[in-house]
Amino acid sequence: MSITTIEIPTDNKMQFLQETLIGLKSEPKFMLSKYFYDATGDRIFQQIMDMEEYYLTNAEMEILQNQSAQLSEAISADGTAFDLIELGAGDATKSIHLLKSLLDAEMEFSYFPIDISEHVIADLEENLPKKLPALDITGLNGDYFDMLKKATELSDRRKVVLFMGANIGNMTVADAESFCFSLKKLLSPNDLLIIGFDLKKNPQQILAAYNDKGGITRSFNLNLLQRINNELNGDFNVDQFEHYASYDPATGACKSYLISLKKQIVNIRHQVIHFAENEYIFMEISQKYSLGDIDQLAAKAGFTPVQRFFDKNRYFVDAIWRVD
Ligand code: AVJ
Repeated sequence: MSITTIEIPTDNKMQFLQETLIGLKSEPKFMLSKYFYDATGDRIFQQIMDMEEYYLTNAEMEILQNQSAQLSEAISADGTAFDLIELGAGDATKSIHLLKSLLDAEMEFSYFPIDISEHVIADLEENLPKKLPALDITGLNGDYFDMLKKATELSDRRKVVLFMGANIGNMTVADAESFCFSLKKLLSPNDLLIIGFDLKKNPQQILAAYNDKGGITRSFNLNLLQRINNELNGDFNVDQFEHYASYDPATGACKSYLISLKKQIVNIRHQVIHFAENEYIFMEISQKYSLGDIDQLAAKAGFTPVQRFFDKNRYFVDAIWRVD
């Protein structure tokens, strides 16, 4: 007797397959950086954050550790109750400092962490109250905009949206503009956005953060090929691709690519993808901003810049914007 298992792709896997094929049939080829984060990708990203060269995490952590009281004051300026909504909350290791300051100041607020990962939200709901018993927390599991819309319908308190970690950097400047404009449309005048940017700085320092000597960023990129092999029955020979990172100080765009080391064919679910020798797959953008670029983005998206918080080296900024 033989048992045939028919794999019924879930919606998520269907979307992963579709978007992967769209990207690989495009000219030039691309992949979407949101797919980096499977279990292995999460682990490698953790290693990136621990790297000597990757200054971003420590810089923003320093801002939250040292200036949460000032951030809290800026947020609670008018003293009214609010909802604090965090996009991509992760394990909240940075935002916990702000939450603590807000509770210390006896501010009246509820915390709504939003994350695409179900287990991230479950962990937060279980663990944050142990550390901050006074915290009123409601986790929202799903897409940023769907969940933000849901949060805005739950109460008519003013909203403070947190979008940290330089996640805005994974969009082109044009995409960041429409993203921030869509955010603003879900908010009301005088609501606040706190948003983290990695600043333009010495090009060598930026490049090193995305082209580390230990090859961790290389593994991070190659892992997406491996993920396609594992989840979508791909047959990438991962050794036949190499990581290439570039930074352009003129535009602030830091980009990573995978280069096909030879002419080759890759199959994904009966679809055949041809690679020429030295053909690239565009993998990710990590856009860097000047303070002027940031103010311009705020203006184009319908916000007014209110205040800026820097680390001591001025590598990073958490900016507070108000909806016009
Ligand atoms: C999570 C988007 C902030 O762009 O710096 C790190 C992702 N990619 N190294 C970044 C990333 C390669 C990271 N962000």
